[in-house]
Amino acid sequence: MAILVTGGAGYIGSHTCIELLNRGYDVLAVDNFVNSKPEAVRRVGEICQKPLPFVELDIRNREGLQRLFCEHKIEAVIHFAGLKAVGESVSMPLEYYENNLIGTLTLCEVMRAAGCKKMVFSSSATVYGLHNPVPFTEEMPTSATNPYGYTKVMIEQILRDLCVADPEWSAVLLRYFNPIGAHESGKLGETPAGIPNNIFPYLSQVAVGKLPKLYVYGDDYDTPDGTGVRDYIHVCDLAEGHVAALDYCENHTGAQAINLGTGHGTSVLELRAAFEKAAGVPIPMEVTGRRPGDIATAYADTELARKLLGFTAKRNIEQMCTDGWNFIRQNPNGI
Ligand code: NAD
Ligand code: UFG
Repeated sequence: MAILVTGGAGYIGSHTCIELLNRGYDVLAVDNFVNSKPEAVRRVGEICQKPLPFVELDIRNREGLQRLFCEHKIEAVIHFAGLKAVGESVSMPLEYYENNLIGTLTLCEVMRAAGCKKMVFSSSATVYGLHNPVPFTEEMPTSATNPYGYTKVMIEQILRDLCVADPEWSAVLLRYFNPIGAHESGKLGETPAGIPNNIFPYLSQVAVGKLPKLYVYGDDYDTPDGTGVRDYIHVCDLAEGHVAALDYCENHTGAQAINLGTGHGTSVLELRAAFEKAAGVPIPMEVTGRRPGDIATAYADTELARKLLGFTAKRNIEQMCTDGWNFIRQNPNGI
């Protein structure tokens, strides 16, 4: 029985495939490479010393998915495939709704027809919106401020409705906080195309001299040092969280949202200082205005993940920066 991983060549998907392969799962990964490269698939195989079974496929391709479910006995799906850039989603809303929603609906329909009713879905802390107090707990109201965020809110709802309609379904809605870092081998990490939007790949590129300085988006927030505070989680911890969620999915039905974070907030200035220390290079910076849509502070209540999944993130900010630096140093131009 195989675990199907959609978006398996992507940043979080590839690290999760490593974790699954290392634990002896039968894995089948698919990706259309809209935001990743075949080299990531090869490197997963290199790290695990066994090839990652992989099919190049767009999950909106119903016939292709049906073929996959006919040819393989798939017991559960970890569903990462989706477009994820907030700013791009504002300028290309139709592409985001089409890819993320149609992709997920097609996948769910094909799963249902094949009798496969277990899914671990990549949701996001973005569903907590602008107005909830920290720490964010899973029962808080959800909302969104951009098309990307709306796709997460909507897909969560679709999966909840599906689980109500058919009590055999099991869906774990994992709300990731801020995944950063890289595999300890330095062979896999995040390689965004163009100028990164997120702080960690941006910092990394400043550290290797590809960008001149970090722009800090505001130092007048109501936080200890005035800069934005986030809950950064090592991508390998996140990968372990997915395996725990898969186990949970096997033994429970219904839809369940679960935060994956560390429960600790780190400011932009603290993250920069930790990266400087790990890399041993200075990271020039300039404070600019706030970025529209940003909130001051976001961090997870991690109690439910501990209780339901037995999951606690193990790696600290220093480890995240050391591994991230190791990756960018070896792969300054991506993989
Ligand atoms: P990523 O872009 O590296 O990975 C997503 C993968 O999905 C890519 O390899 C892409 O090529 C593939 N893909 C997209 N549309 C597809 C389609 N129609 N068919 C097949 N493959 C398709 O992103 P990531 O950081 O690994 O994120 C994985 C998931 O986690 C996404 O759903 C994302 O929204 C969610 N998430 C990410 C973060 C984050 O900060 N990285 C935070 C919260 C949630
Ligand atoms: N920041 C800077 N300079 C930069 C980039 C970011 O100062 O060049 C600051 C931001 O203002 C924020 C913090 O760094 O305070 C983190 O910003 P990111 O863009 O790295 O992450 P966000 O928390 O804004 O958002 C990310 C993803 C969302 C996801 C959310 C929660 O982009 O899609 O984490 O998982 F929803």
